[in-house]
Amino acid sequence: MTDTIDRARLGTLFAAEEARFVGEHPRSRELFAQAQAHMLDGVPMNWMTRWSSPYPPFVAEAHGASFTCVDGHRYIDFCLGDTGAMTGHSPAATVAAAQAQLARGITTMLPTEDSLWVAGELSRRFGLQYWQVALSATDANRFALRLARHITRRPRILVYNYCYHGSVDETIITINDGVPGPKPGNVGPAVDPTVTTRVIEWNDLAALEEALAPGDVACVLAEPALTNIGIVLPEPGYHEALRRLTRETGTLLVIDETHTICAGPGGCTQAWSLDPDMVTLGKPIGGGVPSAVYGFGQAIADLIHADWDYHAADECGVGGTLAGNALSLAAMRATLGEVLTEAAFAWTIPLAGRWADGVQSVIDDHRLPWVVKRLGCRAEYWPRAVPPKNGGEAAAAEDEELDRFLHLFMLNRGILMTPFHNMALMAPQTTVADVDQHTAVFREAAESLTR
Ligand SMILES: Cc1ncc(COP(=O)(O)O)c(C=O)c1O
Repeated sequence: MTDTIDRARLGTLFAAEEARFVGEHPRSRELFAQAQAHMLDGVPMNWMTRWSSPYPPFVAEAHGASFTCVDGHRYIDFCLGDTGAMTGHSPAATVAAAQAQLARGITTMLPTEDSLWVAGELSRRFGLQYWQVALSATDANRFALRLARHITRRPRILVYNYCYHGSVDETIITINDGVPGPKPGNVGPAVDPTVTTRVIEWNDLAALEEALAPGDVACVLAEPALTNIGIVLPEPGYHEALRRLTRETGTLLVIDETHTICAGPGGCTQAWSLDPDMVTLGKPIGGGVPSAVYGFGQAIADLIHADWDYHAADECGVGGTLAGNALSLAAMRATLGEVLTEAAFAWTIPLAGRWADGVQSVIDDHRLPWVVKRLGCRAEYWPRAVPPKNGGEAAAAEDEELDRFLHLFMLNRGILMTPFHNMALMAPQTTVADVDQHTAVFREAAESLTR
């Protein structure tokens, strides 16, 4: 019901916010102009074109749950590098461990002792015995998919509509007007993803049953709750049914905890007692130092070993020269041991509750037809009267024009939100005052929209 919003007024308000941003960010503007010379669209990575401001604020420094831009403004950071900095920026323990390791050798293609501690800790958290290291969650997912196809000898995978698991070819697929096909915007797919992948809606058990029935799906790759089309929680019983149906059809279950680590130290796997065959995880586990992992149990390890050509281990499509490097492992050890701890979640999860309550109070006061959703220390609002049941429903309610205004309104008042939707993440250093400041600014935005 975002049609309750006066679109002409929204356009005027957005233009005013753009003018304010430009007026307050002359140095970023200069840098952005210079950056056009040698970077496509003036940014080092294409996602950075997605900010709602006419150009991105260039960062001077980031610490804890805030950063300053080159124009001297300070921002409360609820984006936190889209989870890469869920630990807060440059957490002290990770920095100390990484600094020490930087001086002792960064990459040798040999194991360090830290790897033992990290694998043991992951095993304790996620209940899977064996772990391997990658540099990004994208890679961890790619390797898990390859291994799943290899050991099951099945050609396909299954994912959910509007999932995101990184720039993994097989997963960039959506249901478009009822028909599976490349996700709109999919750049240069090697093959039509329907050749490699089945895609169904989240929480649709009948579709899952039908998709697994032919017995040609190697694995289901799923976040335990969708987080990349906003948060879409599983309905009661969905995970139990997913596990039962995958087992009955000899399909592996790969759970991607890259974002859902927000649910606690062992992600949803631990919090909800899930029992996946494999877990993948990236982004925050190195406290910002590129690191990712994938883990599996004895049964999978046995199947891998049953058909493994060790001569080809270096060119089999799994692994990478820099994966498992000493710096990543030192950073992961410090981050898991001292930053992403029980105590950290005991602070950030209730704080996200406070954030959600604050947003809800504004929604109620202004009778906005929006919902607030939360998973652990991650929370968001969505322009829909009731929570979506699946990715398709969530996507249908997206309101880009409104999102852009809200993001820029926040940014101009010192608050950074995740650019793709109205999502906020709490870091261990986020304060009650930060959360209350968000509520106050959100209230101001709601007032200006409904005035
Ligand atoms: C659930 C999930 N898995 C994997 C990835 C890929 O992470 P990266 O871009 O760090 O490889 C993302 C990125 O947003 C993600 O949300």
